[in-house]
Amino acid sequence: MAKTIDRFSPKSIPIHGFDLGCGDGELIYHLQKQIQDSTWEGVEISEHRVSAQSRDVTIWQGDMLEENYRPYNVLHADNLCLEDHIADKLEKKIALEFSGIYITYRTPENPTFLRSSKWLDTVSMETTWTHHPIHIYRVF
Ligand SMILES: C[S@@+](CC[C@H](N)C(=O)[O-])C[C@H]1O[C@@H](n2cnc3c(N)ncnc32)[C@H](O)[C@@H]1O
Repeated sequence: MAKTIDRFSPKSIPIHGFDLGCGDGELIYHLQKQIQDSTWEGVEISEHRVSAQSRDVTIWQGDMLEENYRPYNVLHADNLCLEDHIADKLEKKIALEFSGIYITYRTPENPTFLRSSKWLDTVSMETTWTHHPIHIYRVF
């Protein structure tokens, strides 16, 4: 994941990333260690998952749809298993307020998102138990 993010991210400015559905923050803990000068934050809706945090990471309990994506230049959406209408809302919100690299497990379908982004690549990502295709977009 770190290599994929590094490949597509701007080289001129440091990465300020946001993980949507970050669980206990394990992924961003590794990303900030592996990608030089990067800083990461994460939001997780489950209080239980947030309270399982054991690493030094900036995460909080909240609904990703209520957050402001403007400060970030990389967004990562984990395998969120969203209902279609929530996924649609999320993609529209990203299109309207985010600019940068968006990494997602879901193939985006929202027309506003598709108009204001460019697909860059789809790569197979290995997790501890399976392979996922993840899609990388540049959002303008
Ligand atoms: C597949 S899990 C991944 C968690 C984490 N990346 C990990 O590896 O432990 C997806 C997470 O998204 C969270 N989630 C689902 N809907 C959300 C929302 N609207 N806002 C924030 N988090 C949400 C779930 O609670 C769940 O923890």
